[in-house]
Parts: sequence; structure tokens; C-alpha cells
Amino acid sequence: MRIPKDDTVPQLPKANSWNGTTVKAKDPYALMRDSNANTRLTAQHYLWKELLGFLVHPDIDTRAADLRVADIATGNGIWLHDFARGKPPSVDLHGFDISLDQVGPKPWLPANIHMHIWNIFEDVPDEFIGYFDIVHVRLITVVVKNNDPRPILANLKKLLRPGGYLQWDEVDTIGCSIKSVPGTSASNLDALFSQLKGYDTWKYGLTQIMDENGFTGSMLYTYEYGLGNARFWSDVYVSTWKEFAENALKTPEASKKLEHNAMMETLNGASIMVPKLVWVTKKIDGTEQ
Ligand SMILES: C[S@@+](CC[C@H](N)C(=O)[O-])C[C@H]1O[C@@H](n2cnc3c(N)ncnc32)[C@H](O)[C@@H]1O
Repeated sequence: MRIPKDDTVPQLPKANSWNGTTVKAKDPYALMRDSNANTRLTAQHYLWKELLGFLVHPDIDTRAADLRVADIATGNGIWLHDFARGKPPSVDLHGFDISLDQVGPKPWLPANIHMHIWNIFEDVPDEFIGYFDIVHVRLITVVVKNNDPRPILANLKKLLRPGGYLQWDEVDTIGCSIKSVPGTSASNLDALFSQLKGYDTWKYGLTQIMDENGFTGSMLYTYEYGLGNARFWSDVYVSTWKEFAENALKTPEASKKLEHNAMMETLNGASIMVPKLVWVTKKIDGTEQ
């Protein structure tokens, strides 16, 4: 096997390069962006879609031929790609993320998908203020600061036109549980997941926070999978934890041991169960009663 010499090692693309437009670029993300991380996002997306039974909640009308949709914290853009399928090319789709390292090359994107580097805490770019009919955001629990979703919510609202819809999808990190077949220990799996899950009480106030901050008719829907699908999901969460352990915990020996023991418990019949939360809300347009 030939190993390339040092001077032939490819360099990372620079900000504002071919991958998309750059609005702001600094990346303090707690998870990873390598192939395994990307594969996890892809697998998770399809499990997620199967569980919910939709990409966009049926309360939201998606039929307009000139629909404008944003996917915030888009990751590898899998949600946006999936949504684009079967839609006319006139539908205008935009993905935003603090990094586009997980997205395929710009020349290979469908012509109506545009990717932008943008930090959700920074000012909304002028050209996108009030621009979108639908804003979708999924899995930004690790991004929310100080248990307060308001700064993020304010920016998501700015992206929407009056009367536009926000759909926000999250994991229920409080309603989660560890299940095991009788006689199987799950204490290591429990300890492993405890390192990851946090205690995000903001999720229990979000419906009200939405209604008090320029949205109306906010609804929270909860989705739970059965034990038959538990292992598929549990592997996703162990993979997420591995990224977190490597990137944030940095205790390789202890993490390796915990992972080994947790996998033994998994093989014996134990799983992490995490319900999914979906908020659907509409930006006030002044015509509400
Ligand atoms: C768990 S991934 C979810 C990706 C995608 N939404 C999905 O469901 O497949 C979280 C994403 O949030 C992005 N992110 C982290 N901090 C951010 C920030 N401050 N502004 C915008 N995106 C951010 C990460 O880069 C990552 O792509």
C-alpha cells in the first residue's frame, strides 16, 4: 500500500469555499463531524421519519409551488434532501449550520438546495428576515445555552414570514428510560446515557414560551417507539455518546470500560429509550382572534 507523503495530504476547505456561503464561522460543537458521525445522522433521520410518519407535520401546509423552507442546524442536510424529493424545483430550500463539513459538495446539491454557514446565535442575515414559510429545526439540545431557548426562538421567528410555521423536533431527555429484559443489569448503560442526556427542563416550558414570544396555537406532540425498535435507537445513542465522550469528556480509559460494559448489557437485552418531541407553532400575523 502506498501512503501519501506529508506534502500531498489534502487540506481542509477554507470558509466561503465551494461548500456554501458563509455568514459567521466559529465551531464549539460538542459532537463530531467525521464519517461515523455523519452515518449516525443519516440512520437517525430515517428512524426518526419512520417513527413520526412525516417530515413536516400534517398541520403545516406544504403544497405551495413557491414554498420557502429553512432547515436550521442542518447537519449533513439529510432532512432537506429528503424533503426536496418529489417537490417541484421552484420550491426554495435553505440549510443553515455553524459548519458545512458534513454536507456533500455544492456542485452535487439539487439546484434548489442552498447551504449557508450561520451561527444560530448571530444576527439573522438581512436577505432572510421574514423570508421563510416554514422553518424546521431538529436536535439542537446541546446548542441551547443556560437552559433557555428564547434567544434561539427569537432568531427562528425572524426567519419566518408572518403566518409562517416553525417545527422544532427534539429528544425527550427527561422522559427517557432504560429498559432491560428481566434479570439483565443495565447500570452501565444507564451511567453512560446519564453522561449524555442533561436535564433540559426548557422543553417542558417551550409551548408556553412560544405562545408568549410571537407565536400562536403552539402544540407539542410526543412520539414513542416500542421495544421492538429499542435496539436500533439505543445504538444511535451509544454512538452519540461515543462522539461526546471523545470530543467533550476526554476520559478515554474510563469511557472505554464503560462502553464495553454497556455493550455487554446491550447484548444481554438492555436499551436506551428516548421519546421524541415535536412542536408545531405559527408566527403571529396579526389576523388571529
Ligand atoms: C445533532 S446535529 C443535528 C443535525 C440535523 N438537524 C439532524 O437532525 O440530522 C446538531 C447540529 O447543530 C449544529 N450546530 C451546533 N451549534 C450550532 C450553532 N451555534 N448554530 C448553528 N448550528 C449549530 C451542528 O453543527 C450540528 O450539525
